[in-house]
Amino acid sequence: MRTAIYPGSFDPPTLGHRDLIMRADKLVDRLIVGVLHNPAKQACFTVAERVAMLEELTRDLPHVEVASFNGLLVDFARQQDAHFIIRGVRAFSDFEYEFQMALMNRKLNADLETVFLMPKEEYSVVSSRMVREVGSMGGDISGLVPETFVDRVAARLRSSRSLAT
Ligand code: PNS
Repeated sequence: MRTAIYPGSFDPPTLGHRDLIMRADKLVDRLIVGVLHNPAKQACFTVAERVAMLEELTRDLPHVEVASFNGLLVDFARQQDAHFIIRGVRAFSDFEYEFQMALMNRKLNADLETVFLMPKEEYSVVSSRMVREVGSMGGDISGLVPETFVDRVAARLRSSRSLAT
């Protein structure tokens, strides 16, 4: 069985993530969307919230599972019996970070292959970081996150901004 992990922070999940998941889903038998639990990094959404949003986002995709992980991605991949890591590359600026991460993961486990996929062009500037920035300043995030998430994501981002100031 071809199993792949699509790892990330997903803080919050975007339409670009959904696009990547649908592309990866066509390539493998089982796709695990892995949400990194990183206590060292302040997130806007809890891991449980991100997992719940991703489950909602992938409800129509029977071969896709959502799980959280901590520690090394290669260890999570081994636990899940996965041989592929899926990562999205939107622009050349993503490349250096992705290249370093892929080579480090290969050094840690030479059997784990990283596969890069390109999202649809309209999502090439969509990132969780941009959504957080636009949303926290009251900008319109529709078209960036799934329609059903817009109100709750916008409300959370606005309140996180007011808490930070
Ligand atoms: O969405 P992100 O924040 O770009 O995802 C980054 C992620 C979660 C894929 C990466 O930080 C990761 O795999 N972290 C787990 C720790 C790890 O394995 N580090 C060594 C490889 S660089």
